[in-house]
Amino acid sequence: MILPKAWVRERKKEYYYRKAKVEKYRSRATYKLLQVVKKYRFIKLGDVVVDLGAAPGGWIQACRKIVGDSGFVLGVDLEQIQPFDSSNVRTIVGDVTDPQTIQQIKEFLPHPADAVVSDVSPNVSGVWELDHARQIDLARYSLQIAISILKPKGNFFAKVFEGDMLNDFVKEVKQHFAFVKLVKPKASRARSAELYVIGMRLRQAM
Ligand SMILES: C[S@@+](CC[C@H](N)C(=O)[O-])C[C@H]1O[C@@H](n2cnc3c(N)ncnc32)[C@H](O)[C@@H]1O
Repeated sequence: MILPKAWVRERKKEYYYRKAKVEKYRSRATYKLLQVVKKYRFIKLGDVVVDLGAAPGGWIQACRKIVGDSGFVLGVDLEQIQPFDSSNVRTIVGDVTDPQTIQQIKEFLPHPADAVVSDVSPNVSGVWELDHARQIDLARYSLQIAISILKPKGNFFAKVFEGDMLNDFVKEVKQHFAFVKLVKPKASRARSAELYVIGMRLRQAM
């Protein structure tokens, strides 16, 4: 029997939604990060991680789980994030497009970050070109923040949308990181234009 595609998609969506509820994660997006980290290991025990566009906090929970008691996680979002119990998790209200946010982040970090992850997304308008351009723009701001706060050989992971501007953005990431890869996590809806770019091992500035 061939199952209708829409039905399969809905079932998958439901699956991660329910799983997040049962496992007490704040978002189904949590699984996208967990799946990719499991394969590429760009966040490790003891790491200092900055999560951009972090509300409601599913990725923060995933990062905290990976870095354990000895690491540190800072979540940044335009929206206030409900606090967490862990003493090594902090959140701030900040706009990735505001140059002052970099300084604001640095004040919270015990040392330069080991990893910067970004799930920052604009409010989707439904106009493909516009949403694509906005998403790449936000990913570019996230890249600039990453370059400013990562330690040498640090890692970067950010959401992008497929489209004309993606190639140029990937080229930019390649200028800064030794290993670069585009991935589509299983937990991401097949129909969505969303992809993630991994940049590993920040090159030292010349
Ligand atoms: C898809 S949600 C992130 C979900 C999150 N990863 C999780 O697992 O809970 C995207 C977030 O990006 C935030 N955002 C959008 N534009 C932003 C900006 N300029 N600066 C900071 N955050 C922004 C939104 O407020 C929203 O909370």
